[in-house]
Amino acid sequence: MPQFSPAAYLPLMTKRETIIIDCDPGIDDAVALLLAFASPEELDIKAVTTVAGNVPLHRTEANARRIRDLAGRGEVPVHAGCPRPLIRALKTADEIHGKTGLDGSDLPDALSALAPGHGADVLRREISAAPGGITLLPVGPLTNVAHALAARPEFAQEVSNIVVMGGSTGPGNVTPHAEFNFHVDPHAAHIVFESGAPIVMHGLNVTHQVRAKPDWIQALRALETTVGHTTAGMLTFYDSDNDPALHDVLTVGYLLWPELFSGEARRVDIVTEGDEAGRSIVRDAGDGVPNATVMLDVDADAFLARLLDRLARYS
Ligand code: BDR
Ligand code: CA
Repeated sequence: MPQFSPAAYLPLMTKRETIIIDCDPGIDDAVALLLAFASPEELDIKAVTTVAGNVPLHRTEANARRIRDLAGRGEVPVHAGCPRPLIRALKTADEIHGKTGLDGSDLPDALSALAPGHGADVLRREISAAPGGITLLPVGPLTNVAHALAARPEFAQEVSNIVVMGGSTGPGNVTPHAEFNFHVDPHAAHIVFESGAPIVMHGLNVTHQVRAKPDWIQALRALETTVGHTTAGMLTFYDSDNDPALHDVLTVGYLLWPELFSGEARRVDIVTEGDEAGRSIVRDAGDGVPNATVMLDVDADAFLARLLDRLARYS
């Protein structure tokens, strides 16, 4: 039974942005999907593509379908992409997201089917069919995006924007220097940042500003909806020693509420080998040609209030 009726919000529509979300759900990926699915007046979701990352591919694609079912958005196709990084062996994060990738929730298996077509091919095909018309939100390892770029270098000019969660201007979260998504597939991150595509980077320096504190999680539970209980359950499991940072949802929030964010043009280089693999070295403009807009600050209180409002749209 659908939990959300997009038609109810479409009359409010002004200008919609067409997007593809490339993800590895993952608990914070799930929150990002729920925010996007709850925002049909601003976001036209062309597809969801999945990649191996937080958990193996068979789970990330099934989890994307479970969240789509929860949101009642069965018309959005979910495609499976790359099962492993370009060169390195896959490293997962089940200690953070649980074995299933969505531990803490009691979601049923997905009822809706996987769409045919490899995720990387879907990115390439859809974006080259609508030059300048699709914004890509990668919130997992960048393997699918790097594949699309390798198959079609023009992709870099055809994509409207790549709004990515990954990297950091400072310390990492899986090694002293590297953030998880870039660390899992540093070669893919390198290819994307060298491609010339317009990139907006949400690294740990900004995603760590938005944390789900116990009272916010309680407010979700108090919605007394399936989405409220499911999200609260997952966030209670996720990174349970700390107030969990909501990483991936910032990319969706940035499209909805750019006025809450500030960033600067910077030069970002990705280390691909050695102990620092996955490190993003972020330099001031003037110290190298800028290749990304790097987000530096977000109004976290306003962000969390607006996110809660959107999740409250689910019945
Ligand atoms: C990133 O790593 C993953 O575990 C999260 O889903 C997020 O995309 C944060 O470093
Ligand atoms: Ca993710």
